[in-house]
Amino acid sequence: MPENNMDKPKIVTCTAPVNIAVIKYWGKRNEELILPINSSLSVTLHQDQLKTTTTVATSRSFQEDRIWLNGKEEDITHPRLQSCLREIRRLARKRRNDGDPSLDSTGLSHKVHICSVNNFPTAAGLASSAAGFACLVYTLARVFGVEGELSGIARQGSGSACRSMYGGFVQWIMGEKEDGKDSLAQQVEPQTHWPELRILVVVASAERKPVGSTSGMQTSVQTSCLLKHRAQSVVPERMVEMIDAVRRKDFPAFAELTMKDSNQFHATCLDTYPPIFYLSSVSHQVISLVHRYNKHYGETRVAYTFDAGPNAVIFTLEQHVPEFVQAVQHFFPPDTNGEDFIKGLPVSHAALSEEL
Ligand code: ADP
Ligand code: DP6
Ligand code: CO
Repeated sequence: MPENNMDKPKIVTCTAPVNIAVIKYWGKRNEELILPINSSLSVTLHQDQLKTTTTVATSRSFQEDRIWLNGKEEDITHPRLQSCLREIRRLARKRRNDGDPSLDSTGLSHKVHICSVNNFPTAAGLASSAAGFACLVYTLARVFGVEGELSGIARQGSGSACRSMYGGFVQWIMGEKEDGKDSLAQQVEPQTHWPELRILVVVASAERKPVGSTSGMQTSVQTSCLLKHRAQSVVPERMVEMIDAVRRKDFPAFAELTMKDSNQFHATCLDTYPPIFYLSSVSHQVISLVHRYNKHYGETRVAYTFDAGPNAVIFTLEQHVPEFVQAVQHFFPPDTNGEDFIKGLPVSHAALSEEL
């Protein structure tokens, strides 16, 4: 038999950054397609900081699709993994049927082995599902020769993942269609738009959170009337204000909206029944410190936001970084075990990331 290109194993490795929402996504209107109850907006971190690295190998000799996450084999039959695999293969098949001669059609029937590693705590409220599924979809697309809009597929892995497909400032437009075709991420401004903006990640706990985002938001949708009010009457206006603040590089406006939105998201968690507590006493102390710091200077120089976990993400401008880091180190000195009370500050000291 003549040697075919696709008889050889094909291996592709890609990395993807996390993104941190400043207007939060919390709640789905469609669980299967992962369609949100409100739009959201995030900042993509630099890839050198918190990132996922995924390698996908495909070979004729593989018997089945398999995935390893941080070195441990996971269940590939998970519906979200299946959605991503199915959609990428569907697009690859479509491209082949549309007659793209550059596409190796034999590889389409091959199984994949996926190996994915996060260089930061998984499931600790630092958006591992965002970087993880963005990276998975992007790497699979490279393997199967798929190009173009991929945020709609990443969304079906984890909602927040659609925003990690772009760098800089990104909105996830909730969309209106039932099939979810218009529920996509879109870059609002590239990373170069606001180079002075800095992000610090304060790791208060690297432990797995007790309630994952998926099940947490499910309970919130079922039980919280504050969440309903937030999605219908608060977020739409905030999205407009936030995009405007980003475009004008108005740090105080950006910072205040960011903090208020984080606080309202955690208020909806408290309004959930039974309540969900993602913030810890360390988180509360960081919140107080930021407000005291801003008050001391008589202007909003620093903002916090917390995802579904106790770890703080701090936004500030370049010129304030050394002083704010000093303030945190003063109030949170290394503990008696010699470990930083707030671990890894500043873990991420990042400019924003380019498109994948
Ligand atoms: P986080 O706040 O870290 O995003 P979530 O509860 O949203 O936490 O999601 C955590 C889950 O995301 C993990 O249990 C795992 O199923 C999935 N995940 C995390 N990292 C990856 C990855 N690199 N590849 C695939 N799936 C991942
Ligand atoms: C608090 O995207 O992790 O981080 O769509 O169920 O996978 P699933 O949830 P996920 O939820 C993220 C929630 C958040 C806010 C945000 O990133 O917008
Ligand atoms: Co997540």
